[in-house]
Amino acid sequence: MEAGIVSRSFENMADYILGIESSCDDTSAAVLKDGLLLSNVIASQQVHKDFGGVVPELASRAHELNIVPVVSQAVAKAGIKPSDLSAIAFTRGPGLLGSLLVGTSFAKALSLSLEIPMVMVNHLQGHVLASFIQEEGKEYNPPSFPYLCLLVSGGNSQIVRVDSPLDFEILGQTIDDAVGEAFDKCSKMMGLGYPGGPVIDRLAKLGDPDRFKFAKPRVPGLDYSFSGVKTSLLYFVRDELKKDPEFMEKNKEDICASFQKTLIEILMDKLVKAARQTGIREITIGGGVSANSGLREAVLAEGRKRGWKVHLPEFRFTTDNAAMIAMAGLFRLRSGERAPLDIAPVSRIADF
Ligand code: KG4
Repeated sequence: MEAGIVSRSFENMADYILGIESSCDDTSAAVLKDGLLLSNVIASQQVHKDFGGVVPELASRAHELNIVPVVSQAVAKAGIKPSDLSAIAFTRGPGLLGSLLVGTSFAKALSLSLEIPMVMVNHLQGHVLASFIQEEGKEYNPPSFPYLCLLVSGGNSQIVRVDSPLDFEILGQTIDDAVGEAFDKCSKMMGLGYPGGPVIDRLAKLGDPDRFKFAKPRVPGLDYSFSGVKTSLLYFVRDELKKDPEFMEKNKEDICASFQKTLIEILMDKLVKAARQTGIREITIGGGVSANSGLREAVLAEGRKRGWKVHLPEFRFTTDNAAMIAMAGLFRLRSGERAPLDIAPVSRIADF
């Protein structure tokens, strides 16, 4: 059965679109009216904190508990009734399959009961298009096409060329770990907790970024690698701790500052190269790691030097949120796309 059989037509109505995001450990729902954000509710799962990472089984269970109240709140905060909704956009993947199943199944049920169409969204494309979300009383300054997006999160590190809201080309990506994974794993190794990015970011502000040097990868083209720098930090800390068991505690600010600086330099080298190769000067960043203060400063500084027009996302749109899913979904709906009711979520980007 196709969602296209539903009686209400997206094109003929005010576009109240509900976004649903459940790819990892945040249950989120948002409502957009013609691209203007009316609500964005996020329930972050605390249950993973003691495990040093997201536990897939626990994530799916928490989504199942959260999804109904989160969607209800998003609709209520938007000041509309469920029957005012004209379409639903949901994250199809990539992500944790059990988590994605909760959002996808909920979207199908709601689509059937409200008799409205639904559209699937690639989570990563949501991050890449987050700069198009409009907010009441805030300046609207989206990038012009074509633009480059440095997409950096716990699962991905990519440079994406965006030619239209529907045309994406991955110019480079990590061949091993994602940069967020490097932040998280190294933080865990240093006993600083999870997620590692925010802690390292905070401690880095207090330290000397030039004190320690870590190995940088030599990867051809525009691809990234972060496993080597992670290992470099691991061996360095292990060797220093043999000499002084207090080394970590005494030097954690400098270690974090130096490690973060290395990660940012790796990211920026390839972004600069991509901009040079393509001649594109409209630059955005997205994904959880785009909240990093050092990275944001580095992109702005490089932009000033090279005449780029830089678009930094609002902090609340850097991590997983349904507003960006609704935004990406709106573009897809307007292009005529619809998801059939037998659509299944996918865990890997290669399956899109
Ligand atoms: O996009 P995201 O919320 O989730 C997925 O990857 O699905 O990204 C999470 C990642 C984690 O690795 C986290 O450590 C990192 O974003 N992160 C940061 C910062 N805030 C979150 N990394 C560096 N600096 C930050 N301020």
